[in-house]
Amino acid sequence: MKLTVLPGDGVGPEVTNEALRVLHAVAPAHGIEIETTEALIGGAAIRAAGTPLPEETLRAFEGADAVLLGAVGDPAFDDLLPDARPEIGLLKMRQRLGGFANLRPAAAFDALIDSSPLRREIFEGTDLLIVRELLGGLYFGEPRGFESDGRAAFNTMRYSVDEVERVARVAFESARGRKGKVTSVDKANVLETSRLWRETVTRIGKDYPDVQLDHLFVDACAMHLVTNPTRFDVILTENLFGDILSDEAAVLTGSLGMLASATIGGEIDLYEPVHGSAPDIAGQGIANPIGAIASAAMLLRHTAKNEAAASQIETAIEAALQQGYRTRDIAGTDGTAVSTSEMGSIIANLAGEAVPTISAAA
Ligand code: NAD
Ligand code: IPM
Ligand code: MN
Repeated sequence: MKLTVLPGDGVGPEVTNEALRVLHAVAPAHGIEIETTEALIGGAAIRAAGTPLPEETLRAFEGADAVLLGAVGDPAFDDLLPDARPEIGLLKMRQRLGGFANLRPAAAFDALIDSSPLRREIFEGTDLLIVRELLGGLYFGEPRGFESDGRAAFNTMRYSVDEVERVARVAFESARGRKGKVTSVDKANVLETSRLWRETVTRIGKDYPDVQLDHLFVDACAMHLVTNPTRFDVILTENLFGDILSDEAAVLTGSLGMLASATIGGEIDLYEPVHGSAPDIAGQGIANPIGAIASAAMLLRHTAKNEAAASQIETAIEAALQQGYRTRDIAGTDGTAVSTSEMGSIIANLAGEAVPTISAAA
């Protein structure tokens, strides 16, 4: 498997190192050979090459099976306009790779239930998957910009039937492998794009009679996520709503640092933790690498099509938590915390120990 690795900014390189450590500890024993090429993106790329997605990085995508990203974002560039910031490197890369369905699973880990901001009886049993449309909506709609006098600005929310159909199918297919329920989230009481969204999802839903479909307005969905998160299985939603709801879902699990993501459906799959570059804790070795490590597990599942290898990593994450290992963000007030690299090593060791050798498996 050819993997392009983009560590990016802030805690990005710190958590990506740990994801690679775990990947290398697990993959070979499942017969997966991993060849990595590292490239620049975001603020790191602006500093080294003057642009957030340099030509050399685009070339590093050629022939790649997947891309593993850390995070982008650097406070040094906070005053730049959107089209010059580190984040535009990420958005242009998403467009180039073509994946339109961003899968963001959020589930309660038994060992972490008391780290959730929700009470145990509300959060226990939560296991949901956000399917976020990633290439449309306000992020990419034209026209966008400032009026010439700088006294007004505008963005365009636009969706085509085709864009909704293809991501809806991913949500319905995903639900089939889970609890069989899709909740489509929109703002159809106000927005035309949401009317189109709801009509299209309802029509596509008829192809999946075995999957239960309901609809929620996005404001109500935000509320249900904190009052009744176990009502959800798959949440299907557009780009910006998915961005916002996935941070909310992430922190229910204990920390934003826990959540992984996979972006599929395009030419090259993309894996990245949901969190950002976390400049407030960068360089201290305290970031939680579990979101990045779980993204590596998703890579083994969706790109390498190796369920055994993927669950090996997920089981090791659970075991590490069960054994009481915590990074600072999930340690609570009296717990002692391990560093980013200690957590990575612990998970790599647990996963490595559990890996059957190829000959033993055969
Ligand atoms: P953030 O996700 O970087 O951080 C939000 C909060 O969560 C911070 O308090 C941070 O310390 C904490 N946190 C995040 N990841 C953590 C981890 N792995 N372990 C422990 N704690 C963690 O969001 P922000 O502060 O709003 O944004 C910072 C920068 O990151 C911005 O430039 C933003 O654009 C960018 N960003 C990038 C991505 C991405 O690359 N995919 C995602 C979100 C934000
Ligand atoms: C995410 C991030 C990105 C997004 C930013 C950094 C462009 O917040 O991956 O959730 O909004 O998609
Ligand atoms: Mn986000």
